[in-house]
Amino acid sequence: MNQDQLKQAVAKAAIDYIAPKLELDSIVGVGTGSTANYFIDYLAEIKGTFDGTVASSEASAERLKSHGIPVYDLNVVDRVLVYVDGADETDPKKMLIKGGGAALTREKIVAAVADEFVCIADGSKWVDVLGAFPLPVEVIPMARSHVARELVKLGGSPVYREGVVTDNGNIIIDVHDMQIHDPVALESQINQIVGVVTNGLFAARNADVLLLATAEGVKTHS
Ligand code: 5RP
Repeated sequence: MNQDQLKQAVAKAAIDYIAPKLELDSIVGVGTGSTANYFIDYLAEIKGTFDGTVASSEASAERLKSHGIPVYDLNVVDRVLVYVDGADETDPKKMLIKGGGAALTREKIVAAVADEFVCIADGSKWVDVLGAFPLPVEVIPMARSHVARELVKLGGSPVYREGVVTDNGNIIIDVHDMQIHDPVALESQINQIVGVVTNGLFAARNADVLLLATAEGVKTHS
């Protein structure tokens, strides 16, 4: 199977995982990216077995709506039963790097609210130690240079992601060469820099369940 087929397989596995938990009033949190897109397409096949969704990006909201799946503002929802989203990297503790699609802040918000966070990834995302993938940081535009200088002090090599504006009107800095020995501590440290909205380490709130698609099938890490 190629990477795309693995993404599709893990998205289907996520549907099989969540379907028995869904009730008519359930809200499903939906992530962003190509794996999440497959999940949205499969979710359309079981629409009507749950109430609706909250989306972690405008792009996902549009795709959900195009399937006739209700999308709610997170502020009008009491509870998100489960959040399903992809990742750029996952380690064995199910700590993640996310934000390759620039949706990290809304993704982190939905993950924070959800009772359960199910990460869906193909095997290429599995690493022993996070950090080969450049760490995305969402930044208020006027703080770009300040935040970049502070990230250099933390040992990283920041690169401005040209031409990208997030759904929140901010910019993304991708941090290369970052040594991530303690993901929980680094997540917090970067978030303390004035001008940072949040960073793509999902360590304090990691995934509860990881569905990982490999050539041997989809493995569940819980
Ligand atoms: C978007 C994300 C995505 O989950 C991540 O980039 C993985 O994307 P894909 O499923 O396309 O490989 O964090 O901000």
